[in-house]
Amino acid sequence: MSNPKTVAFLGLGRMGRPMAANIANAGFPVVVYNRTRSTAEDFAAATDGVKVADSPREAAAGADVVVTMLADEPALRAVYEGPQGALAGWSPHKVALDMGTTGPAGTAWLARAVGNAGGTAIDSPVSGAVKAAETAGLTLMVGGAADVVEDLRPLLESMSATIYHLGESGAGAIMKLAVNNVIYALGQAVSESLVLAECSGIDRAEAYEVFCDSAIAAPMVKYRQDNYTNPGTSITQLALTLAAKDLKLITALADEVGAPMPQAMVNLDTAVRAIDDGLGDHDMAAVAVYLRNRTSPRS
Ligand SMILES: NC(=O)c1ccc[n+]([C@@H]2O[C@H](COP(=O)([O-])OP(=O)(O)OC[C@H]3O[C@@H](n4cnc5c(N)ncnc54)[C@H](OP(=O)(O)O)[C@@H]3O)[C@@H](O)[C@H]2O)c1
Repeated sequence: MSNPKTVAFLGLGRMGRPMAANIANAGFPVVVYNRTRSTAEDFAAATDGVKVADSPREAAAGADVVVTMLADEPALRAVYEGPQGALAGWSPHKVALDMGTTGPAGTAWLARAVGNAGGTAIDSPVSGAVKAAETAGLTLMVGGAADVVEDLRPLLESMSATIYHLGESGAGAIMKLAVNNVIYALGQAVSESLVLAECSGIDRAEAYEVFCDSAIAAPMVKYRQDNYTNPGTSITQLALTLAAKDLKLITALADEVGAPMPQAMVNLDTAVRAIDDGLGDHDMAAVAVYLRNRTSPRS
């Protein structure tokens, strides 16, 4: 394959849109597919060099690389399987580059399915939220054959600031769960501490300013400031439903490999309860809203 490769991009959600835009802006011919077609049409109208496919099959058929940035494993299977799925448009030597947080089992499924069709699957989940996707500042955690990863490097670099090739297929998917476990632990801790400060009479916005100027000021704490301080009006960066999905993947992996993770269990339980309270479409920072709604004022 010679560069630039033709790219099929499947999944134009919060992260997928800026990632696909950066690929197109780097000069790769891009064909997009999104389950909700109007999203793909709006995106193509606003982005030079982008065409819309009617199905994953059509998008994959004309592409060298099929990039997926989808919610979860069921979404991945939905775009790959069936008569209109990407596998139906497959041919040997195509590469499947999955960049969503799909988890090790979904990644293994894709590697098998694509391998049986004569292709190669690379897992490359991303760290960094929408802003990092917009500025091509993502960190990529990559698993898969080294020669294929090298061949994809210009494409990977069009979306990212840092690339870690961690090993064979699945290594990226596993590393992403290790990173996200810290994200959700920090999110839970920030939520608890913010509500603790508020319950004790400290202004929410001021307490958060202190977080941002203290030893806990990780990038995630800074770029979620509006989500934590103005939960009613802030823009969702990562839906709580996706956080719970990740925590289920994390606890399942922990179970499989025998890693003790008591904190992750609590974080999952809290996320699930917050979703039961109707906060699933809100940003993951809504854990603080859930806790705030359960405070019991003392006289
Ligand atoms: N947001 C973040 O900060 C962030 C950061 C790092 C990693 N991630 C991970 O990246 C992935 C995408 O996240 P996101 O925030 O961009 O999600 P999102 O905004 O919810 O977008 C999800 C995408 O998946 C598609 N989809 C969902 N279910 C589907 C199905 N059954 N069949 C076909 N398509 C389906 C959606 O299509 P429709 O438009 O039709 O709904 C949409 O294109 C997730 O795995 C997430 O965990 C997110």
